[in-house]
Amino acid sequence: MDRFHIHGPSRLVGTVAASGAKNAALPALAATLLADEPVVLRRVPKVRDIATMRRLLGYLGVDSHDRDGAVRLIPGHDGASFEAMYDMVKTMRASVLVLGALLGRRRRARVSLPGGCAIGVRPIDQHLKGLDALGAQIKLEHGYVMAETKRLCGARFRFDVQTVTGTENLLMAAALADGETVLDNCAREPEVVDLADLLNAMGARIEGAGEETIRIEGVDQLGGAEHEIIGDRIEGGTYLVAAAMTGGDVTLTGAAPADLGPLLETLAAIGADISAGEAGIRVRRNGPLRAHDVVTAPHPGFPTDLQAQYLALMTQAEGASRITETIFENRFQHVAELLRMGADIQIEGREAVVRGPRPLSGANVMATDLRASACLVVAGVAATGETVVDRIYHLDRGYEGMELKLQALGARVERVAGP
Ligand code: EPU
Repeated sequence: MDRFHIHGPSRLVGTVAASGAKNAALPALAATLLADEPVVLRRVPKVRDIATMRRLLGYLGVDSHDRDGAVRLIPGHDGASFEAMYDMVKTMRASVLVLGALLGRRRRARVSLPGGCAIGVRPIDQHLKGLDALGAQIKLEHGYVMAETKRLCGARFRFDVQTVTGTENLLMAAALADGETVLDNCAREPEVVDLADLLNAMGARIEGAGEETIRIEGVDQLGGAEHEIIGDRIEGGTYLVAAAMTGGDVTLTGAAPADLGPLLETLAAIGADISAGEAGIRVRRNGPLRAHDVVTAPHPGFPTDLQAQYLALMTQAEGASRITETIFENRFQHVAELLRMGADIQIEGREAVVRGPRPLSGANVMATDLRASACLVVAGVAATGETVVDRIYHLDRGYEGMELKLQALGARVERVAGP
């Protein structure tokens, strides 16, 4: 297992480019199961979750090839499998995204139930309720969802909770349904909008993505398309947090400022200097940081995927910040590791109270999930001495070349291959 060895503290300075968004590329790849012609996706990030999804698609009859920096996907439907096995789904929950597309195009799907994961229980009841509303027959047996239909029929459905992959699964299923589907209380994340843009380029008729109500007029067939994935706001946001944490000066290119709105407003509120223009989003910090509370919420709220990194940042701010996690029930696992680096944090249920500023000192720490790993790496760059972050495979699921990007900004980070 690879580890990062980090020698801090370093002040991060320079320009860093966001990769394509993992959480937009995953549904885009799944959407190729709906197509009858090749689909070309540009700016697909080279991260482990993408490799896992491509392997799953290969098994489901979609061949993919790298060509000229893009990924070309060629769907083959006849005789192809319609099953996403437990082994794949357990390593990557986003495998559940093939459910809506398989059902829409092939009219049947057998997809392993994802089960819980490090950050919470994460049920998929809303995905199933929505597909049921479109007329799918759904059975749960032996840990699998078995779903089939003669053809899905458009319907009106309201999500009880806003779910990103749930909204995406329903968009894909409804794209080939008979008639109009109206989805209420949809997730409004930029990744949902990017998926709708791709589906529309393939010939779907989707209106309202990015709003709470989305209308989908079903079509009989979807063709090929060429599409560029949006920039990764979470990856990019991680570098901006690191800039503020190290008193640095970093310009992020290739990510939309609007997608990062909640983070940028928060960084401004704590005393960082923010500017956004043609050259990118620049975050600078000279003076002290002020403590500031955040509550995670669905977009356009503060993203849960930046909570861990922000929590690390608040260890350097003056005063007490209260950080409330409302999306996932077990997303404070980074706290125990930050305590070992000298942070002062108390957890009360879904709230963490961080008191700062506290000097962080390098330590051996263990990554537990993707964003917790990123938090520990950022903390390691700001800490004095050597930090060793173990289990970097979590990080490799969603950050493309993180050590290289950090090195280019002046951090001393090295990947050391495990035994
Ligand atoms: N929920 C339900 N029932 C459902 C679906 C969701 O109760 O059927 C609940 C969840 O338990 C959670 C809330 O609804 O409390 C929101 O979960 P959501 O379904 O939106 O999460 P997701 O679609 O499984 C995506 C991202 C996550 C990100 C969340 C929230 C992808 C592939 N994953 O997950 O990304 O944290 O939205 O924004 O898009 C990550 O990249 O590190 C990551 C975990």
